[in-house]
Amino acid sequence: MKNKNYLITGSAGFIGFHLSKKLLSEGFNVLGVDNLNNYYDQKIKQDRNKILKKYKNYKFNKIDIKDYKKLDRIFKKNSIHGVVNLAAQAGVRYSLKNPRSYIENNINGFFNILELSKKNKIKKFIYASTSSIYGLQKKFPLKENFNTDNPIQLYAATKKSNELMATSYSHLYKMDTIGLRFFTVYGPWGRPDMALFKFTKNIIKGKPIEVFNQGKHERDFTYVDDIVDGIFKILINKKSKFGAKIFNIGNGKKIKLLKYIQLIEKNLNQKSKKKFLPLQKGDVIKTHSDTKLIKKQYNYQSKTEVSYGVKKFIEWYISYFK
Ligand SMILES: NC(=O)c1ccc[n+]([C@@H]2O[C@H](COP(=O)([O-])OP(=O)(O)OC[C@H]3O[C@@H](n4cnc5c(N)ncnc54)[C@H](O)[C@@H]3O)[C@@H](O)[C@H]2O)c1
Repeated sequence: MKNKNYLITGSAGFIGFHLSKKLLSEGFNVLGVDNLNNYYDQKIKQDRNKILKKYKNYKFNKIDIKDYKKLDRIFKKNSIHGVVNLAAQAGVRYSLKNPRSYIENNINGFFNILELSKKNKIKKFIYASTSSIYGLQKKFPLKENFNTDNPIQLYAATKKSNELMATSYSHLYKMDTIGLRFFTVYGPWGRPDMALFKFTKNIIKGKPIEVFNQGKHERDFTYVDDIVDGIFKILINKKSKFGAKIFNIGNGKKIKLLKYIQLIEKNLNQKSKKKFLPLQKGDVIKTHSDTKLIKKQYNYQSKTEVSYGVKKFIEWYISYFK
């Protein structure tokens, strides 16, 4: 069973790295695909990839998912048991600056992976969606059956499109597609463009931190190991032949941004200088996941307290940047 090959796109990314590491340490083979783009510091991606390359069962392919021909060769050369598509142009705020990158990577790139998964009769196709697709809701916690027809930026619009594209392929080609709506993922090796990383960096340097929406944001922060456990359970589950499905993966608890900042300060033993700013265009005000559906289907529940997760991130940050 362990000689199964899983193709993970975005394997040098934050979540892709942790997922690949888990699969490799469990004895599965991972075919990693990543173009190591420069959306953020490439050194972090290379360093994550170096760790993965230490495993004999890891094969890395520096490929862009927009390149159908190169991907086609990977699918032809290997017998692939499951695909997890995590490669994407991530980030809510950047989608206002560079919308084209979202169309090219998240629509065209996603289509290539979906089409090749169909062509090669991949049994299980898992892909990253996002809590951002809920937009500005009034009712909480957010359930998978809520209306998501009103994305408030193009990032969410491309992820919603992914869910629709996958659903149509499931229907047409009897593919098992599973979209996972991740809720603000954080942890060691996290993304430099995200709040936890930026806040930690600036607090250490004594620089002010930008607190949008006057600090009134509330987020369901999900520890990366919990996200990985969820994906892993779904990937190796043998019974999940049920067409197109969408699940939230969140911590199931919300926390105020100011409380989150206090946790960072406590772990750094340093106070922040806050620069309060208005709500940014495209930002959702609150996220809070309902996780009953994934619990029922896979007996999966996130278990990490945010105080523990922030501590682990800061330990990693300090040891990585010395
Ligand atoms: N981190 C979060 O809080 C969060 C929340 C919701 C959804 N997501 C989604 O989860 C997935 C993984 O996110 P992450 O936080 O690990 O982001 P990340 O940016 O760290 O990882 C994405 C990886 O994909 C690679 N990539 C991007 N475009 C590519 C392309 N065209 N071809 C090949 N590789 C490409 C990047 O180089 C990067 O290493 C993304 O789809 C993201 O939208 C993340």
